[in-house]
Amino acid sequence: MISFAKTDEGHSIRTARTLLRPWRPSDLEPFARMNADPEVMEHFEAPVTRAQSDASAARFSDHITAHGYGFWAVEIPGVAEFVGFVGLLPVEFVADFTPAVEIGWRLGRPYWRHGYASEAARGAARFGFDVLGLREIVAYTVPANVRSRAVMTRIGMVHDPAGDFEHPKVTLGHRLRPHVLYRLTASGLTP
Ligand SMILES: CC(C)(COP(=O)(O)OP(=O)(O)OC[C@H]1O[C@@H](n2cnc3c(N)ncnc32)[C@H](O)[C@@H]1OP(=O)(O)O)[C@@H](O)C(=O)NCCC(=O)NCCS
Repeated sequence: MISFAKTDEGHSIRTARTLLRPWRPSDLEPFARMNADPEVMEHFEAPVTRAQSDASAARFSDHITAHGYGFWAVEIPGVAEFVGFVGLLPVEFVADFTPAVEIGWRLGRPYWRHGYASEAARGAARFGFDVLGLREIVAYTVPANVRSRAVMTRIGMVHDPAGDFEHPKVTLGHRLRPHVLYRLTASGLTP
């Protein structure tokens, strides 16, 4: 069960257990707390300060306001008003596979291992294909991020080894620079 709704603030997506919605000021504090968790940020280059966390939320929120979609705040109605983000954004660097729209996710640790990320990601991908008319959605991460790769596989994404790349925004020579590329088409999306 996936449904879409549109308000002045942008689109939102409902799945059986998750709600992907525009950001609220009250999301900033739990978002910053989650971004300060070393386990959540294990596969990122640097710790995130409160100011950087707020700036990311503002960037995600602005994209939703301008384009209707983006990295949505995720709520689990009846459980928690904010558990992290899941959504779609145009890739903002140049690589062999760009221009492209990526699907991304980050949840607070208490909300791991419930299937929320995969369920919300299926909703976002469905929106990408049905509403935005995308022909393909990509995702990428460092090879060691097995949890994220498992979400990719669970929703039907396929690793494209020929597309694996060095992330241009990560410092040259850094262990987190090599990335694996996954691709998804509408027919591959798992129910
Ligand atoms: C990536 C991330 C979102 C994945 O979270 P996750 O909890 O592993 O993924 P899901 O929400 O899809 O949950 C799947 C797990 O829930 C379990 N699960 C429990 N109840 C479930 C249910 N009702 N339905 C489906 N799955 C359920 C699954 O069996 C699976 O467990 P497993 O890990 O033992 O195989 C999370 O690890 C994260 O936020 N990481 C940090 C940020 C990050 O790296 N983001 C990606 C950057 S590219």
